[in-house]
Amino acid sequence: MITASSYHTKTCYERHHMGGHALDWENQPDTFKHYKGIKHIQLPDVRDFSPFKTSFFSLPQKTIVSSSARINFSIDEVARILILTQAITARSRGGGTDFWFRSAASAGALYPTEIYLASRSVAGLDDGIYHYSAFDHCLAQIRQGSFVNLEGEADFGVVFFFTAIFFRSSWKYRDRAYRYNLLDTGHVMENHILALKAMNIHYRIHYDFDDREVNLLLGIEDVREVALVLVDIPGLASLSLKTQKNELAPLPSQIAEASRVARVEKDYDLLRQFNESCIEVRPHSAAKISDKLGLRLEPVTGIIENPEDKVLFDYPEVLFQRRSKRNFMGRAISPSALAKISAAMMTEPYPYVAAGMLLGPSEAIPSGLYVFDQESRSIYRAAEGGFNDAMADICLHQMWIAAASIHFVFLSNLDIIDGSAGPRGYRYAMIGAGRMGQRLYLAATALGIGCCGIGAFYDREAAELLGLDDKSRMLYLVAVGSIKNRS
Ligand SMILES: Cc1cc2nc3c(=O)[nH]c(=O)nc-3n(C[C@H](O)[C@H](O)[C@H](O)COP(=O)(O)O)c2cc1C
Repeated sequence: MITASSYHTKTCYERHHMGGHALDWENQPDTFKHYKGIKHIQLPDVRDFSPFKTSFFSLPQKTIVSSSARINFSIDEVARILILTQAITARSRGGGTDFWFRSAASAGALYPTEIYLASRSVAGLDDGIYHYSAFDHCLAQIRQGSFVNLEGEADFGVVFFFTAIFFRSSWKYRDRAYRYNLLDTGHVMENHILALKAMNIHYRIHYDFDDREVNLLLGIEDVREVALVLVDIPGLASLSLKTQKNELAPLPSQIAEASRVARVEKDYDLLRQFNESCIEVRPHSAAKISDKLGLRLEPVTGIIENPEDKVLFDYPEVLFQRRSKRNFMGRAISPSALAKISAAMMTEPYPYVAAGMLLGPSEAIPSGLYVFDQESRSIYRAAEGGFNDAMADICLHQMWIAAASIHFVFLSNLDIIDGSAGPRGYRYAMIGAGRMGQRLYLAATALGIGCCGIGAFYDREAAELLGLDDKSRMLYLVAVGSIKNRS
């Protein structure tokens, strides 16, 4: 078994030991899946989102109670949820081909995350298992029939599945790619949860399920693609999946082959074996991490408030406007904007990951490392001083990051993950970090502030700079700050 600690350590970047990896451009992975020989269903063009327009800042804290559950569900709602989860937002042209950007950020724009759904009694859609293609807004029918068990008075059931295709990311990041598979999936999944909140749809999130059976249900093979998260919409009662192997008919080989995204796909052993270690679901009590990083924390007041700030974009427009911005100007954002962005990031606690921030010297609050306690919604100072120049250098010398006045950092103690949840806890932590990262992007975009996720850094140096103990590591960084040419 490969532990979270061992996978993370073996995939660390070390200064002077990067051993140059030339990208094989001839063999660049396709960012869209293509199914041949099965039924495709064009989804309705439901781009009038005016009924769901709302302040982005009202969404992260919003809770949907089960008593508001729907009694029916239609293909229009499915189509709307899917666009809001994974929209195409921009196109670039290079070498005579088009490249499509999406509403969720993705390391290297490689887009490893795919979306599937199981539907039962959805008006306008036959019961079945479907893959969603954001490119042409259509569903490919992988299985026909009902794979959702409805209990009690339930009248419909929908389950969304989020998977990752390893090679999309490992083409560039090799064994380290599992980190990006998880972070990217967190970004997409957060769009999904925000869509359900905006549409007042009661949902449940499942990080724990039988991986082998779910992969079989979706027609994917875990050498190439794996399910990472499920979100179900239970209607009035509860539902479960029919995934028993003996109930599932074998699928034609071209279904699993659709996960092949490049002519030559190298198998990254460590990544694949670590995913296998993650299959075991252990009973665990989700550990709070912020006080287990080896930091001395002093309470601070006055950062988290409830201010009014000029908002440029509401939801869902903010999704279509979101892009990574790197033209930071080294100028402070207003204290109220900082409070608003922090509050949007800091919703419910996520297991095994703590959020913090490095404040640059230009901010109204003294520069230093701060750590959030999501449970009590409070903030602690862990260290004083300016870290942002040093952190930019540690982020593989991406020096433009130094001009971002805030570096949000996502931290974990890998020994606690292994000791409590086992390797699967790494999934919880990284997906949680990705979810918070996506909310930071959207909050910053709403206020006309720049944001960029950073997954490339010398791991040991980052932990040392932050003063973490030797079991704790930085998992992800999201740079936020004022940018040139605000528009
Ligand atoms: C997990 C993750 C890691 C990333 N790491 C970096 C990075 O190290 N450097 C960088 O310039 N951009 C980084 N990005 C930003 C991506 O390059 C960007 O999301 C992608 O090119 C798509 O462009 P868009 O965000 O403008 O839509 C990262 C994004 C994510 C989600």
